[in-house]
Amino acid sequence: MKRLTTMLCAAQVCWAAMAGAAPLSITLPPETAVFKSSGLPGYPLAQQKCSTCHSADYINFQPPGMTLAQWTAEASKMQQVYGAPISDQDVNTICAYLAVTYGSAQASDAEVQAGSNPPPAPAAKGDAMALLQKPRLPVLSRD
Ligand code: HEC
Repeated sequence: MKRLTTMLCAAQVCWAAMAGAAPLSITLPPETAVFKSSGLPGYPLAQQKCSTCHSADYINFQPPGMTLAQWTAEASKMQQVYGAPISDQDVNTICAYLAVTYGSAQASDAEVQAGSNPPPAPAAKGDAMALLQKPRLPVLSRD
């Protein structure tokens, strides 16, 4: 019984110490898991396509000064090795943004311009509007 009383007393002392303690405050480090903002069209595309498997930390922690070719190789690895479902055209647009924002490329570089302003995609096979707008075949007459 004496033991139990001692334990209860100890618990009370502990509780009193906890109640009297100052509230804890935690300062979080700055957010690194976001893509650096940019006016290039690859920015929203990277947010959308490169965030499905991992955070932007993976991009933020790459060495600075990577060329467009190096970023393209990195994105190709995502496609080929990890099966990222991203089209080659989207990879070009995303890598133009990555190479300018994180690497050594300039927004005025011809390759960056080409990647950021891809030609309009051809109408998909199942595009009903395109089918309706196709010229009709001439109607054959029997005479
Ligand atoms: C299908 C999933 C998937 C998508 C989508 C994806 N990644 Fe990755 N990524 C991975 C995996 C898996 C790793 C390796 C993780 C590890 O090693 O812990 C990785 C790692 C990385 C790394 C770290 C360096 C390396 O090579 O391991 C970078 C940089 C990177 N990804 C960039 C990108 C970029 C840019 C995109 C968009 C174009 C992208 N990822 C989209 C799966 C993906």
